[in-house]
Amino acid sequence: MLFEEYTSFNHKFPDPQYLGAKHTHLAWIKKFIPDKVVTAIDAFAGSQSVAFLFKQLGFKTITNDFLNFNNQIGLALIENNGSKLTAADVALLMKPAKNKKDFHLMENTFANVFFDKPEAEFLDNFRANIPLLSNSYKQALAYTVVNRSMTRKVTMGHFGHTQALRYAGDPERIKRNRSLIRPIKDIFEELLPKYNNAVFDNKQENRSYHKNILELLPTLENIDLAYFDPPYCDSHADYQSFYHLLETYTEYWKDKQFINGIKRYEPQRFSGFDKKRDVIASFKKLFEQAEEIPCWLISYNNRSYPSVEEFEKILSKYRQVKIETKTYQNGRGGKGSVAGSQEILFVCKPKKKHFLPSNHHEHLVDERL
Ligand SMILES: C[S@@+](CC[C@H](N)C(=O)[O-])C[C@H]1O[C@@H](n2cnc3c(N)ncnc32)[C@H](O)[C@@H]1O
Repeated sequence: MLFEEYTSFNHKFPDPQYLGAKHTHLAWIKKFIPDKVVTAIDAFAGSQSVAFLFKQLGFKTITNDFLNFNNQIGLALIENNGSKLTAADVALLMKPAKNKKDFHLMENTFANVFFDKPEAEFLDNFRANIPLLSNSYKQALAYTVVNRSMTRKVTMGHFGHTQALRYAGDPERIKRNRSLIRPIKDIFEELLPKYNNAVFDNKQENRSYHKNILELLPTLENIDLAYFDPPYCDSHADYQSFYHLLETYTEYWKDKQFINGIKRYEPQRFSGFDKKRDVIASFKKLFEQAEEIPCWLISYNNRSYPSVEEFEKILSKYRQVKIETKTYQNGRGGKGSVAGSQEILFVCKPKKKHFLPSNHHEHLVDERL
């Protein structure tokens, strides 16, 4: 295992651009991962950075995010143990699509909002060809890399503003980020090798889901470690408004309305963790559902709702809790990462531990089970 762990760390996680992504905190988070983990879940996986660490550590990794474009990253890099996109696959993706007439959503919705018309047409054509790839992991890689290319192309890497084309014409901004004027096709071709190189086999049957975690968790069992990184309520929590375009491209919605200046889809999926009115009830439900998972790591931020103190009070009904903190020196963009704000990790263990034998290893359980 140690040798495999070593080789898995040769595969670098491609830098994401995602609000609240934890790729810069992985070494810190890793220090609090308990020993003897066999199966771990990254329940709100976003860019999949923590799930990727779990896979590198050799864990059977279950990953989930309620947005499908994030699930595609999970399929491509966590569940996928070997499929890569070849030069022939890329040629297939780029060729004029036979069914092009059925694929106009990007052109009709986003041309002259985020992209000029030829770029929007390129995206529609590429999207029409994705289902022609020979398996779902190759398709997931195509979604992952083209979606990442779109975030490179748009200033600030999200779609919650309407300044994209204006910024793409601003010489000062172009000097800072040449991707603003590069064709998406070029960005895709530059990024693809990084994603192909991140595909590896950790000899486990890893799984990626895109479900509301409150629906998924009751269906799973024998998990040793849960990592929860929910939206930080009250601080950039509305992922569907920031990344609506990637979800629209992946789902290619036929039954939504596209509203306001950014053309986000409506109705949105229900989260339960992004609005003050729902969040406390959702956390209580989550912790009840996670009772049988012995160890929990929960990322949090001192600008979130409920406050750290209130959150700890809720948590301590279920677990013995230790709070670890890391202070941001610079605001680097993203969820709550304002200079002086704190990244918090609640390290949660069963209140009193004892061991019961299970079929695959000794399983830590809560005394109340
Ligand atoms: C803070 S981000 C996670 C960032 C992630 N740890 C990373 O490193 O990129 C929170 C994620 O929770 C997802 N989310 C929100 N509500 C959810 C729900 N009810 N079930 C599952 N995922 C949800 C959002 O789509 C978002 O990607």
